[in-house]
Amino acid sequence: MSAAAMAITAGACSVQTPSACLDVGCGNGYHCWRMLGADAERVIGIDPSAKFVFQFYAIKRFAGNHLPIDVLPLGIEHMPEKMAAFDTVFSMGILYHRRSPMDHLRELRQLLKPGGQLVLETLVIEGAEDQLLVPQDRYAKMPNVWFIPSPDMLLSWMSKNGLKNPRMVDISTTTIEEQRSTDWMKFESLADFWTPMIRVKLSRVIRRQCEPSLLLRHLIKSVLHLVETLCLSGSLIRESPLGKPH
Ligand SMILES: C[S@@+](CC[C@H](N)C(=O)[O-])C[C@H]1O[C@@H](n2cnc3c(N)ncnc32)[C@H](O)[C@@H]1O
Repeated sequence: MSAAAMAITAGACSVQTPSACLDVGCGNGYHCWRMLGADAERVIGIDPSAKFVFQFYAIKRFAGNHLPIDVLPLGIEHMPEKMAAFDTVFSMGILYHRRSPMDHLRELRQLLKPGGQLVLETLVIEGAEDQLLVPQDRYAKMPNVWFIPSPDMLLSWMSKNGLKNPRMVDISTTTIEEQRSTDWMKFESLADFWTPMIRVKLSRVIRRQCEPSLLLRHLIKSVLHLVETLCLSGSLIRESPLGKPH
């Protein structure tokens, strides 16, 4: 289950409304609108991609420019240090893209008011507290994927970075029903990005052996085994008096 996503929270038990919410890496601001719809008092999204910021303001123009919601063209690293301004901070689909997940967690904590809550959603692998996947190349065709921890390792990273009372609220496998191409998004999607059997097998090998050269050896062994099997069945066909394999 290496393409599982986990939602995890730290801090207060539930989102207190009215509240100030921050969505880090908000894309075009879709979840920001959902936060406003859930009665947040003020919503800020940040995303360094200018395209998303333009998309957001095109929608806000029609939804109402007076609404207390904005998206700013910033990365998390551009936010003031120790800002302590938000009741709830969201980080969804970001952690595995960060070269330093520890710094990301620390930056997220510093954006929270005392007693605030972090909602974190990210990819996880199955495994114990000491298990971590570090893809050498792309992961499910995604570039820029650095670390995919097990759920328990992620909880321990959070505690280590001063996030109190972290707990897992959901863990589910990403499905091709959820992430799919549509009339609005005709490009490749999850179904094109994985071959479940191969991907799960490879990620298991990587996790167990944690060394690319061993993975390569494992692959070569599998190919040799396949070639051997094919040759053997070929010779059986030739040697069988009936011309059929035994
Ligand atoms: C996988 S998308 C997730 C989008 C959205 N949070 C969601 O869950 O649908 C990752 C987003 O992070 C943004 N991003 C990249 N670098 C960032 C940074 N340094 N700080 C904040 N966001 C960043 C990207 O532009 C992209 O929109």
